Amino acid sequence: MDSKINKNGKYLIAWLPGDGVGVDVLDATKIVLDKVNLNAEYIHGDIGWEFWCKEGDAFPVRTIDLLKKVDAAMFGAITSKPVKTAEAELVSELKGKGLTYRSPIVRMRQLFDLYDCLRPCKGYPNNPLNYKEGIDLVVFRENTEDLYAGVEFNPVPANVAAVLAQESKPFAPFKDLRGDEYAISVKVNTRKGCERIVRAAFDFARKFGRKKVTVVHKANVVRATDGLFLDTAREVARGYPEIQMDEANVDAICMWLLKNPLSYDVLVAPNLYGDIISDLCAQMVGGLGFACSGNIGEKLAVFEPSHGSAPKYAGLYKVNPIASILAAKMMLDWLGEELKGAAVEKAVAEVVKEGKVRTYDMGGSNTTLEIGEAIAAKI
Ligand code: IPM
Ligand code: MG
Repeated sequence: MDSKINKNGKYLIAWLPGDGVGVDVLDATKIVLDKVNLNAEYIHGDIGWEFWCKEGDAFPVRTIDLLKKVDAAMFGAITSKPVKTAEAELVSELKGKGLTYRSPIVRMRQLFDLYDCLRPCKGYPNNPLNYKEGIDLVVFRENTEDLYAGVEFNPVPANVAAVLAQESKPFAPFKDLRGDEYAISVKVNTRKGCERIVRAAFDFARKFGRKKVTVVHKANVVRATDGLFLDTAREVARGYPEIQMDEANVDAICMWLLKNPLSYDVLVAPNLYGDIISDLCAQMVGGLGFACSGNIGEKLAVFEPSHGSAPKYAGLYKVNPIASILAAKMMLDWLGEELKGAAVEKAVAEVVKEGKVRTYDMGGSNTTLEIGEAIAAKI
C-alpha cells in the first residue's frame, strides 16, 4: 500500500465519537492507540444527533471538509431518534421546514465512495459469548448501492407510476392504487459496484490464504440486481482459481451459518444482505461488543464499531469497547502499520483469554476504560 503519511510525518486521523456510547468506546480506544505510539494527530469532528437538532445537519459541511484532509477516521456511533421530549419538538420543527434525517454514516459511505465494508468476525478463545470455538468469518459488504441507494418514493409521483404501469406484469399489487397508497425503494446495483466488492473479497482471500469465498444473493427471485451480482462474481472468481467460489441464497446462508459456522470463511454480499449477515456473524463471536467494521475507499477509510449509540448507557462507561478497539486495529492495518495492528489484536486476545477484566456483557463488572487499560497494558 502507498504510504499514507502526511507532510509532517504524522498521520492525520479524524476522531468522530458521535453520540451516546460512541464517546465511551472511543475514549477507551484512544488509550490503546496511545500505547502503540502511532505517530498521529487526532482531529475532533462534529457529527451526530446534537448537530441535527441544532443545525438541521447531523453531518455538517465542516466535518465533510475534515474528512477530505485526513488519512483515516475513527467513528463511534450515532443516535437517530429523539431521546428527550425537547428533542422530539425540535425534530418536528425541522420536519416542518421540510428537513428529514438521513444517517450520516450512510451518507459518508456514499460521499467518499467507501465501497468496501469489511467486517471480520473472529471468536477469540475463552470468550463466554462465543457460539462455538474457532469461528473466523470475514464479511465483505458492498457499501454504497443496492437498497441503500436512497432512491425512494413515498408517495409515488405520477411520472414514476406511469413508467411502472408500462413495465409491470399482470400481477402488480399497486396497479390501481393512488400514489399515496404505496411506496417504492429502488434497489440499484452496478456492474462496477458488484465487481469491486467481489474483487476485494477474493484479493483478501488470496492475500491471507483463505480457502473459500461464499457469494450471498437471492438471484432466484431478485433476478436483475442479484443476478448481476452473481454473474459478476462468477466472472471475477475465474481470476482466482486457487480459491473455491461458493454460492448461497441469503435466507439459506442464515441457517447454514448457524448450523455449521466453521465451514464458512469469507463471505461477500450486496449492501442490505451484507448488513444482515454481518450482524448474524457478529453475534456468533460475542455480539455488539466484538463487531468491528471498516468502511474502505480508495482514498479514505473510516473505522467503527458496528453497534449503535445505546443512549441509555451513554456516559456510564459500562459498554464493551473491544469492537471499537478492533476497529482501531483494522485502521492500523489499513495505514500500513500491520505490526501495531497485530500487537493490538494479540493484546485483545490475551485479555479475553484471561477473562479477568470484563464488561457486563461478558459477565464482568469492569468499566469501558478498564478494558482499554487492560488491553493497553498487554502491549
Ligand atoms: C451498520 C448499521 C447501519 C447500516 C445503520 C446505522 C444505518 O446497521 O453499519 O451495519 O444499516 O448500514
Ligand atoms: Mg447493520
